[in-house]
Amino acid sequence: MEKNLVIGASGQLGIELILGLQKRFGIDSVVASDIKKCDDELVNRSEFILLDATDTNSVRKVIFECGCTTVYHLVAMLSAKGEENPKAAWDLNMKSLINVLDCAKDGIIEKVFWPSSIAVFGPNAPKNRTPQETFCEPTTIYGVSKVAGEMWCNYYHDKYGVDVRSLRYPGLIGHRSMPGGGTTDYAVEAFYKAINGEKFECYLDIHEALPMMHMEDAVRSTLELMAAPAEIIKLRTSYNLSGCSFSPGELNDEIAKFYPDFVTKYSPDQRQKIAASWPNSIDDSRAREEWNWKPEYGTKELVESMLNALSN
Ligand code: SER
Repeated sequence: MEKNLVIGASGQLGIELILGLQKRFGIDSVVASDIKKCDDELVNRSEFILLDATDTNSVRKVIFECGCTTVYHLVAMLSAKGEENPKAAWDLNMKSLINVLDCAKDGIIEKVFWPSSIAVFGPNAPKNRTPQETFCEPTTIYGVSKVAGEMWCNYYHDKYGVDVRSLRYPGLIGHRSMPGGGTTDYAVEAFYKAINGEKFECYLDIHEALPMMHMEDAVRSTLELMAAPAEIIKLRTSYNLSGCSFSPGELNDEIAKFYPDFVTKYSPDQRQKIAASWPNSIDDSRAREEWNWKPEYGTKELVESMLNALSN
């Protein structure tokens, strides 16, 4: 039986991925772990284990004791927060990954999922439809840790045959859980402001387009990648992944179609510089060709779905 351990289970993606795994494999097939328990009732139907992912022995013990076959390693300090404490971000992001990769190398688990990000790209990469293979010279420590993490994954695959799979997620947008510490987080906040009839102050420039993705697409892409036969997964660094793309101004206009009084005020801060170093949109043709990836949510569908979900 497939048994899945999600490390970083109480974060924005963890909560949604656990629900996706519960739906696909059953509630008992999922074990959640994090340094704190989340308060989502549906998530908490699965077993929860308190875990510090940087603690090598604890990671090994939990993986061994829960008898899991697959680990979804979602622990990370994101781009904006990472800039406040680069060494802590590096330590957290790298140590936790290597702890999990080592368990796979030693045969305690069969498969690993680890998320990379559009943050692997920097100012030297082409902005539009950024290709899979191009300059990866990020300007954030988060991006640096993702580039290095991709290399570690590839190394463990080549050298030890570890079945590790990865996606370069765009900004993720869902209604069940809040992001924290990222540069793309503004988009989730905008929806809450619109629903509550509040004015929205955006920390990015009106024209700063970024790749984004509806949470349902993110969870589906992850489960599809993990379900694919190992031999068709040619990239063991990480796959470019694309959903949609919009700027804060475009998001404002889409939301205003449903909430005509919604107004965004633009007050760019240090996060604007991070956003400006990232792609506007992503070329994910390798994912489409190799394991049949296809997103379902464009900007219009994403906005409509978020507003519907939140207003209910
Ligand atoms: N959402 C992340 C961030 O903004 C990018 O992967 O940091």
